Formats: sequence, structure tokens, C-alpha cells
Amino acid sequence: MEAAEFYTGIVVDAYAKLKSSTFDPGPYLEFVTAHGQPALEIGCGDGQPLLDLCAAGLDVDGVDSSLDMVERCRANAAERGITTGIFHQRAESLSLSLDRRYASIYFAGPTFNLLAEDETALRALRAIRDHLTDDGTALIPLWVPGPTPEDELGVTRSTDEESGVELRYTPLSETYDQEHRTRITVTRYERVTANGTEVASRDWMIHWHTPDSMRRMCAEAGLDVIGLVDDDTSRDASHESESFTATVRRTGPALAL
Ligand SMILES: C[S@@+](CC[C@H](N)C(=O)[O-])C[C@H]1O[C@@H](n2cnc3c(N)ncnc32)[C@H](O)[C@@H]1O
Repeated sequence: MEAAEFYTGIVVDAYAKLKSSTFDPGPYLEFVTAHGQPALEIGCGDGQPLLDLCAAGLDVDGVDSSLDMVERCRANAAERGITTGIFHQRAESLSLSLDRRYASIYFAGPTFNLLAEDETALRALRAIRDHLTDDGTALIPLWVPGPTPEDELGVTRSTDEESGVELRYTPLSETYDQEHRTRITVTRYERVTANGTEVASRDWMIHWHTPDSMRRMCAEAGLDVIGLVDDDTSRDASHESESFTATVRRTGPALAL
């Protein structure tokens, strides 16, 4: 299964139930308010924070590579009376059929690290460039994960049993490859009901970037890095940063849409 298909099937149910319900839309609201509309959220999942920004009156579209997530996001939008573009597309092959260019493009959290190889990440950066307005800005949060602690492997997190359904997530084992900047965690998701247990095994791949490799890739994609900031210290990101955010703008002439 490809990395972009990770969030499908029971993983979508488990993700919705196990994720923090206190996701703060604030930074993305501020970003779009500062840099302009329309905006595009890449990897919008089931709609957090996309739908909060729409509810606040901002013109924001969403894309996600998982059809299950897109359908859930559309249902969540309809429930909240929100009408906006929610597209089933991959970041690395954003189609020009979106037919719009965006003043702001952002990932809400380090979804960029789900792009499994440098080549895929570079394609995503090029697609972002092509979909920014000439003076548009993109926000790309990045994460440099450490290995999952040994004592967390094999430990199950589960949802409270609701109406006879329990969802479970267990990280089982991991390969941590510093040279290729990848961490692959073998995971197991389970849905336990009175009728039996449905099991899905997934490899959760994180592919990380250093400040230097990110700068190089952005330059190759035709993007200027106007900020590369450590999320913990608010200083320039360094090789010690575990979490940092790139702010980029397009260089060169616009692609005609
Ligand atoms: C960690 S989730 C975040 C979702 C959202 N912020 C939320 O909490 O509802 C990452 C999302 O990125 C999507 N994704 C993964 N790879 C992608 C790709 N190549 N292009 C677009 N979306 C992708 C997944 O399907 C998933 O919905």
C-alpha cells in the first residue's frame, strides 16, 4: 500500500476517534488572514482545521489523497452547512483542474512528512508553486521524528467502547533509517465488535527533511524560502530542530492555468 493510501478504511475511523479533539485552528486562521484568499489546505483529512476556517468566513478549499477522508470531510461540511471545494487529489500531483490559484496554501501539521521520498516531496513543492498566485505564500510544517521509544512498541491505545465498537491502535515494530531520513512503523488497527474483530496492518512512513535539504528542494522547485523557523524556539531552524515550519513563495514566472 502506498503512503498516500495510509488513511483509508478503519484507519479513518480510528484516526477520527483517537486524535486530539482540541486541534487549534488559530495558527492557520492567522496565516490565511495574513496572506490572503482563496486558500488551500493540503491533507485536509476529515476537516480539521479546514471547516473551522470556512465557518469563520474564509474561502478555503481542501484536498486529500484518501477518498474515505474526502467523503467524511464532505459529510462533516454538509452537517455544518458549509459549502467549499473538497477534492480527492494527492499533494504531489495536484491537478490543474482545481482551476484556481491560491494566495495561501498550507498543511495543518506535518503532513508533508508523509510524502515517502524526496522525489515525491519535490513534486509536491512544484505543484504548490504552480497553484500559488504570483505573490502567494505557502506554509509547510515539518517534523524530525526520533525513534519511537521501545517501551511504546506493542502498547495498544483504544477508544472507549461506544455502542459496542472499540477501535484499537498498536505500533508493533519500527525501522529507523537516518541515512534515508525515514522512519517506518509497522502498525495494527483493529475494530472490535460483538461480531468479531476487523484487522488492518499498515506501515506508517515518516520521511523527514533537514533545514538544508528543505532549502535545496525548495530552490529546485522554484520556491524561495522566506522563513524556516524552529517551532519551539522561534529562531532559525538548525540541524537540532525537531519541529520547524517553512514559509515559501514562488520564484520565477507564473504557470498559466
Ligand atoms: C495526519 S492526517 C491530518 C488530517 C487533518 N488535519 C485532520 O486532523 O483531520 C494527514 C492527512 O493527509 C492525507 N495525505 C497523506 N498523504 C497525502 C498526499 N500525498 N496528498 C494529499 N493528502 C495526503 C491523509 O490521507 C490524511 O488525511
